[in-house]
Amino acid sequence: MIRRIAIIGLGTMGPGMAARLARGGLQVVAYDVAPAAIERAGTMLGVAEGVLDSLGITPPASGAGTVRFTDDIADAVSGADLVIENVPENISIKADVYRTIDGLIGPETIVASDTSGIPITKLQAHISHPERMVGMHWSNPPHIIPMIEVIAGEKTAPEIVTVIRDLIRSIGLLPVVVKKDVPGFVENRVLYALLREAVDLVERGVIEPEDLDTCVSWGIGYKIAVIGPMALLDMAGLDIYKSVSSFLNADLSNRDDVAAMVLEKTNASKFGIKSGEGMFSYTPEKIKALQGERARKLVAVRRILEGRD
Ligand SMILES: NC(=O)c1ccc[n+]([C@@H]2O[C@H](COP(=O)([O-])OP(=O)(O)OC[C@H]3O[C@@H](n4cnc5c(N)ncnc54)[C@H](O)[C@@H]3O)[C@@H](O)[C@H]2O)c1
Repeated sequence: MIRRIAIIGLGTMGPGMAARLARGGLQVVAYDVAPAAIERAGTMLGVAEGVLDSLGITPPASGAGTVRFTDDIADAVSGADLVIENVPENISIKADVYRTIDGLIGPETIVASDTSGIPITKLQAHISHPERMVGMHWSNPPHIIPMIEVIAGEKTAPEIVTVIRDLIRSIGLLPVVVKKDVPGFVENRVLYALLREAVDLVERGVIEPEDLDTCVSWGIGYKIAVIGPMALLDMAGLDIYKSVSSFLNADLSNRDDVAAMVLEKTNASKFGIKSGEGMFSYTPEKIKALQGERARKLVAVRRILEGRD
């Protein structure tokens, strides 16, 4: 039974995750190596709690859990049933964290990584109880997106996958079990297949970036939020898919390097919202407005999809 959870790393993902777990009735202790990150996380936690209120997510009958911040990793993991590692996507930083907590946790503690794509099997090489390590890949923003991938590494004990899957379900979220430790797991493989084709089409001048987004958001995304790809195949008809894919698959982008358009932009420090320019241009006012509008729309769409409105 998981009651107490330690979150290690309070950047983009940690605070929203802490808020959602506490709303599910769990006791969370949250740690970051950087004091500034802990301070920021306090504010982010409050924002995430407000969003959870607007989503209508209420605590269980046994009551809401708590979030406590600490600047001491031993304090964070002491007595934890589950440690969620949420530090940058860099294997040596993650390995350092595993080495540090190895001597501080009991053999029964489950260690989950929120890695976006480092194989869990690789991470398992850095911990003394690899059978109790599992992937737990949340989607950003973690307090709004309900799907979480649970990934078994080669050495993960099957019952650990079940415990994490059941925990996620028990707080009203949607676990999906990724049975093979493939790079990028499933969510990012599908997303990156779409992004590769989208970037290629824009780079080849087939479509303007704004129109590409309109096409995907209103032609595919809107529909796919209601009818997933496997169900869509049945809706369109497998005979149609067979005939279109028999000629179209060969024409789709299969490049295995990074597109020149992306390299040109990154070489010029055009990273997107964080630098004010990427595929589009942003002013600070536009960024603020976009963030508010996107959060409001994600909340509204989710309420509709869940049949709450
Ligand atoms: N950002 C996303 O959209 C997203 C989505 C899903 C999963 N992830 C994954 O989640 C993990 C964290 O991503 P993020 O975007 O929150 O990263 P981030 O860079 O925003 O935050 C990482 C935090 O970890 C802290 N940190 C660094 N070293 C540490 C250490 N040794 N001990 C404790 N804290 C330490 C940093 O101070 C920072 O606050 C990554 O593996 C990432 O791939 C990210």
